[in-house]
Amino acid sequence: MPTTPTFPLIRQQIAGVAVADIVAAVGTPAYVYDAAKIVERILDLAAFDVVRFAQKACSNLAIIDLCRRHDVLVDTVSAWEIRRALAAGYPAHGQPPPVVYTADIFDRESLELVLEHQLHVNCGSPDMIDQLGQQLSAGEISLRINPGFGHGHSQKTNTGGEQSKHGIWHEQLSDCVQRAAKHGLTVSGLHMHIGSGTDLQHLSGVCDAMEQAARHVGPQLNSISAGGGLPVPYKEGEAYVDLDAYFQLWDATRNRLADRWGHALTLEIEPGRYLTAEAGYLISEVRAIKQMGSNLFYLVDAGFNDLARPILYGAYHPMSLAPADGSQDRPTQDVVVGGPLCESGDIFTQEEGGFVSSRTLPEAQVGDYLVIGGAGAYGSVMASNYNSKPLAPEVLISEGTTHIIRRRQTFAELIAAEQIPPE
Ligand code: LLP
Repeated sequence: MPTTPTFPLIRQQIAGVAVADIVAAVGTPAYVYDAAKIVERILDLAAFDVVRFAQKACSNLAIIDLCRRHDVLVDTVSAWEIRRALAAGYPAHGQPPPVVYTADIFDRESLELVLEHQLHVNCGSPDMIDQLGQQLSAGEISLRINPGFGHGHSQKTNTGGEQSKHGIWHEQLSDCVQRAAKHGLTVSGLHMHIGSGTDLQHLSGVCDAMEQAARHVGPQLNSISAGGGLPVPYKEGEAYVDLDAYFQLWDATRNRLADRWGHALTLEIEPGRYLTAEAGYLISEVRAIKQMGSNLFYLVDAGFNDLARPILYGAYHPMSLAPADGSQDRPTQDVVVGGPLCESGDIFTQEEGGFVSSRTLPEAQVGDYLVIGGAGAYGSVMASNYNSKPLAPEVLISEGTTHIIRRRQTFAELIAAEQIPPE
C-alpha cells in the first residue's frame, strides 16, 4: 500500500525540479506531471492481469505513451481518444485487446473507427450491440453493466443506479446476450464501473454483482473488469483503499467463475484518477491580493478554464506556495483563492454548491507561485477556452529532465476554425 502523502504549505520543487525553472521554461499557468509517480501507481496495481488506463483522466500523448511503455493497456471513450491511443503507439489488436472502446453510444465517427481498426467494444447500451452487429457477422464484445447501484465522490460522478445513463441495466443482461448472439457476436467480457472517487465498501459490492451477472452470460466469458473508481487522498489524513484487500475480493470472484467453467478468466482494472491525479500539479502565479470585507483573496492567473473540478464538484485540491524569493518558511493566514475569469464561481476554494470557503496558506506576495496539487487527473483534459484563455502547456518531468509535452495554445490556434461571414 502506498504511504499516505503529506501536503507541504511551501513547495519549491516538483519531482526535483525548481518551480521557478519550470515557470522560466513555459510560463504560467502550466500543468506539470511527475513521471515517477505515475509509474509508482501503475506498479501498485501489478496484481491485476490487466491495468487499462482510462485516458480521459489525462490524455496527453506523452502520458498515454508512458503508460504503454509500462505495459498498461488503454480505454477509449470517443473517436478521438481512439486516435490518441493509436497515435501513442498502441496496436489495434492483441489478446487481451490493447485498445477498448467503452461508451453508451457510437457516434458515426467512433463506429467507423471501431470497424476500420476492428477494435474491441465494451457496449453500454443495447443499441450499440445492434449497430455493431449490423456491420459484423462475427466477433467478441464486452458488455458494460449497470448493477443498479453506484457511488462517487460527487453525485455527478456516480455512474450506477437508475438515475445514471451508463451501462446496460443489469436486468437486461440475458436479453442482451441473446441479442448479441443473433448478430453472431459472443459476449466474452463483462465490465462494471459504478463511479469515480468511490470507496472500498461500494467497490466491494461490485464483486457480488459481477458474479451474479457472469452467471447469466456463462462460460463464453473470458474477461471481467472491475472498472475504475479508486480514490486518491486529496487532503491530509485521507487514506488509500486497501489495494490488497480489493484485489483479493476480485481474485476470489474470478477464481470461483474459473472453477465453475473450467477455464481461466482475465481480471482487468480500469483506473484513471489513481494513475495520474497525484502526479499532476497546476502552477499559477499570484497576480493580486485583496481584502474584501473579512475575506482576503489571492487571485492567481489560473482559473476554472484550467482546472474545473472545484467549480464542478466543490472538489478540494491541496495547495502550496512557491515564494519567488526562495523562502522556505512564511507565516500562514486564511485566504480565499480565485482565478482571473469574469465569473464569481472562479474560486478554487469552494464547497459543492458554490459556497466559498477559505484555506490556511502561507502569506503571499504578487509574483509568488501557487501550486495546486492532485491536478493530474481530470485537470488539463477538462480545460476550456472560456474568456478566450489559451489551453495551458503541459510538462512531464522524468528522471530530472523537463519535457514540454504540450506547448501553450497560440492565439492563431484559438481562432483558426472561426470565420467572419462576408458582408
Ligand atoms: N472507466 C469508465 C467507464 C469511466 O467512465 C471512468 C471515469 C473510469 C473508468 C475512470 O474512473 P476513475 O478511476 O478515474 O475514477 N471528472 C470527474 C471524474 C469523471 C469520471 C468519468 N469516468 C472528476 O474530476 O472527478
